[in-house]
Amino acid sequence: MTYRILFVCLGNICRSPTAEAVTRAKAQQRGLDLVLDSAGTGDWHVGKPPYGAMQAAVSARGYDLSSLRARQVGRKDFAAFDLIIAMDDDNVADLRGLNPEAAVRAFTDFAPGSGATHVPDPYFTRDFDGALTLIESCADGLLDWLDASGTAQA
Ligand code: 4NP
Repeated sequence: MTYRILFVCLGNICRSPTAEAVTRAKAQQRGLDLVLDSAGTGDWHVGKPPYGAMQAAVSARGYDLSSLRARQVGRKDFAAFDLIIAMDDDNVADLRGLNPEAAVRAFTDFAPGSGATHVPDPYFTRDFDGALTLIESCADGLLDWLDASGTAQA
């Protein structure tokens, strides 16, 4: 069965939709078969497209977020996905609050060389390019891991 990954951040308008779109583009380049989605722990932006400044930064590097719409993570997501990947420690804590047994990983675990322990929120830092660069490294590491495990071979 196709391996399913859910990316989670706070608002689902900056980091997690970017993680979803970047990982999708890179998986396609490698011929990996994955189901990818993203969601927020908060509900403020449900139904909205990704944040404009994030879309601009992402478009400049050839990715497209325009079709994505924010949604809130829910309990049913823990059964619907094989792996849930969080952008920061608050996301991990909120996810464990919903399901203490959840298989949750930090996205930065897949980019140990970056030295980062979370993906800083560009909605507050305003460093959209920096967040995108880190997300690209994390996506590469995630796909290397999936490639090595043979989990996502098409
Ligand atoms: P994200 O960024 O979690 O990367 O989508 C945020 C966007 C909006 C808000 C928080 C985080 N907000 O509070 O509105």
